[in-house]
Amino acid sequence: MGEDNKPFYRLPFLLLSIFHLVSVVISDDAFVMNKLAASLKPTPSGWSGSDPCKWTGVNCDSNHRITAINLASRSLSGTLPSDLNQLSQLQILSLQNNIISGPLPSLANLTNLEEAFLDRNNFTSVPLSFFVGLESLQVLSLGENYNLAPWSIPLDLVQSSSLVTFYASKANVVGMIPDIFRSFPNLQSLRLSYNRLTGPLPPSFNGSNIQNLWLNNQDYGLSGTIEVLGTMAQLTQVWLQGNKLSGLIPDLSACTSLFDLQLRDNQFTGVVPTTLMSLPSLLNVSLSNNKLMGSFPEFNSNVQAIIGGINNFCNLKPGSCDSQVTALIAVAGGFGYPMTLADAWDGNDPCHGWRFITCDTKNKNVTVINLAKQHLSGKISPAIANLTSLRDLFLNDNNLTGPIPDALTTLPQLRVLDLSNNNLTGKIPAFPERVTVSISGNALLGHNSISSEEGGGSTDTLSSANSPGGSPKSPSFSPAIFAGTVVVLVFHVLRF
Ligand SMILES: *[C@@H]1O[C@H](CO)[C@@H](O)[C@H](O)[C@H]1NC(C)=O
Ligand SMILES: *[C@@H]1O[C@H](CO)[C@@H](O)[C@H](O)[C@H]1NC(C)=O
Ligand SMILES: *[C@@H]1O[C@H](CO)[C@@H](O)[C@H](O)[C@H]1NC(C)=O
Ligand SMILES: *[C@@H]1O[C@H](CO)[C@@H](O)[C@H](O)[C@H]1NC(C)=O
Ligand SMILES: *[C@@H]1O[C@H](CO)[C@@H](O)[C@H](O)[C@H]1NC(C)=O
Ligand SMILES: *[C@@H]1O[C@H](CO)[C@@H](O)[C@H](O)[C@H]1NC(C)=O
Ligand SMILES: *[C@@H]1O[C@H](CO)[C@@H](O)[C@H](O)[C@H]1NC(C)=O
Ligand SMILES: *[C@@H]1O[C@H](CO)[C@@H](O)[C@H](O)[C@H]1NC(C)=O
Repeated sequence: MGEDNKPFYRLPFLLLSIFHLVSVVISDDAFVMNKLAASLKPTPSGWSGSDPCKWTGVNCDSNHRITAINLASRSLSGTLPSDLNQLSQLQILSLQNNIISGPLPSLANLTNLEEAFLDRNNFTSVPLSFFVGLESLQVLSLGENYNLAPWSIPLDLVQSSSLVTFYASKANVVGMIPDIFRSFPNLQSLRLSYNRLTGPLPPSFNGSNIQNLWLNNQDYGLSGTIEVLGTMAQLTQVWLQGNKLSGLIPDLSACTSLFDLQLRDNQFTGVVPTTLMSLPSLLNVSLSNNKLMGSFPEFNSNVQAIIGGINNFCNLKPGSCDSQVTALIAVAGGFGYPMTLADAWDGNDPCHGWRFITCDTKNKNVTVINLAKQHLSGKISPAIANLTSLRDLFLNDNNLTGPIPDALTTLPQLRVLDLSNNNLTGKIPAFPERVTVSISGNALLGHNSISSEEGGGSTDTLSSANSPGGSPKSPSFSPAIFAGTVVVLVFHVLRF
C-alpha cells in the first residue's frame, strides 16, 4: 500500500529484487549440481570447487546457467536427484553407459533440452511426467535399461515436435505404439526393439519420414499388417523380425532407399511381390519362418537374402510352381491367403496330402476342391478355371463376396458347384446343363432378375455389382443385365 506515492523509493527496491531473483536462480543451478555430484558414486572426477560451470564436462551460458552435462562412460553408479529439471537452461544431458540406478528424474518443462542420453544404465522407473513440455527435444536415448519398471510411451511426447531420434530398445516398454507420428515431421530414427509392445503399427506412420525403424523382437509381438510401410518412402532400414505381424508383404516400390528389410519370424502370408525383388537399394532381406506361398523368391546376387526356414513356398529354390499349384495359390489369394490355406497348401504337388483337395490319382489332376465351412471371406478367383479337371467345387457356407466368375462356366468336367450360404453378388453365369449349381442363401445374388420381376428396385446398384470389369455406370437396362435375367429365369425354370 501507499508505494505508488514513493516512486524513488521503489526503483532501487525493484533492482534489488531482480538481482536477488537472478542470484537465487544461479544458486539454484549450483544447488542442483551439488546434489547431483553428491548422489553419484563416486563423485565424478573434476567435479569440485564452488563453481559448477568449471567442472569437467559441464557447460554454462553467459548467465552462468548450466546448458550441458556430459558424464558419459564414467563408471558412475548412485542415483539422480529428482529436481534435476530445475536446470531450466539445460540443452544436453549425457549420462549414457554408466550404472546409475533408481528412478529417472522427471525432465518435465526442460523446454530447452535438445538431447538426452540416458541409455545403458540401470534406472528403475520412468516418471509419468517425464516427457511433459520437452519442446526442443531432438534426441532421446533410453535403451538398455533392463531394470525399468514397465512403462508405455506417453502421449505427452507429441509436444516434442522437433524429435529426430527416439531410442528405447531393451527398456521394458509395454502397450501399443501410440498413433502420434504425424506430430514428428523430422523423426528419422525409431528404435523400440526387444520390448513388450503389442498391437498394430500406428496408422500415422503413413507418410512419415522415418528412415530407420527397429521394432523387432517384442516379447509377445506386434500384430496386424505392414501395409503402411508402402507409404514410408524414406525408409532405409526396417527390422520387424520376431513379431506376430501378418497379412501380405505390401508393394514397397516407393521405398527406393530401403537397403535392409528384416521380416523373418512373423506370420506373413501370400506370395512375395515381384516389386520386392526389384527394389533398387536392397542389400539385406530376411523372410524365413513365415507362411509365404508361391514360388521361391529370387533376389539379385548382391542381395544377402535369408528366405528358407519354415515357409510354404512351392519349391526350395527359385523356379516356377506347377501350373495347378499356381492356380490354387491364386484361389487362396482371392480369399486373402488365409492361414488355413497357407498351412494346408505347402509344396509343389497338390495331390500330395493337400487338405481340401482331391485328385485323380492316375493323372495327378485336381478333381475336387472342398472348402465348405472354412470361414473364408474374399472373392472367388477366376484362376479356378485353370484347373481343367475339376469336377466338384464346394465353397458353400463361407462369407464370400463379389461375383461368380464367368470363367467357371468353361470348366469342361464340372458337375457340382456349391456356392450356397455366402454373400455373392452379380449375375449368375450360364452354366452347362450337366452342372448342379447351388446358390441359395446369397441374398444379393442375381438380384437384378428379382428387381425386374418386382418391377422396380435398385437397378443402378445392381448393374454395377453386375459387371466387375464391364460398364458399370449405366442405370438403364443393359444387354448384360438382360442376358443375366434370362439366364436366371432359365435357371429358375430348370430348377423347378
Ligand atoms: C511444468 O510447468 C507447468 C506450467 O508452468 C506446471 O503447471 C507444471 O507443474 C510443471 N511440471 C513439473 C513437473 O514441473
Ligand atoms: C541393477 O539394479 C538391480 C536392482 O534394481 C541390481 O540387482 C543389479 O545388480 C544392478 N546392476 C548393476 C550392473 O549394477
Ligand atoms: C495413407 O494416407 C493417404 C492419405 O493421407 C491415404 O490415401 C492412404 O490410403 C493411406 N495409406 C495407407 C496404407 O494407410
Ligand atoms: C546384412 O546382414 C548381415 C548379417 O545379418 C550383416 O553382417 C551385414 O552387415 C548386413 N549388411 C547390410 C548392408 O546391412
Ligand atoms: C491360367 O491360365 C492362363 C492360360 O494358360 C494363364 O495365362 C494364367 O496365368 C493362368 N492363371 C493362373 C492363376 O494360373
Ligand atoms: C490332367 O491329366 C491329363 C492326362 O494326364 C493331362 O493331359 C492334363 O494336362 C491334366 N490336366 C491338368 C489341369 O493338369
Ligand atoms: C461370416 O462373418 C460373420 C461376421 O463377420 C460371422 O459372424 C460369421 O460366423 C461368418 N460366417 C461364416 C460361415 O464364416
Ligand atoms: C453381405 O454383404 C453386405 C454388403 O456387401 C453386407 O451389408 C451384409 O452384412 C453381408 N451379409 C452377411 C451375412 O455377411
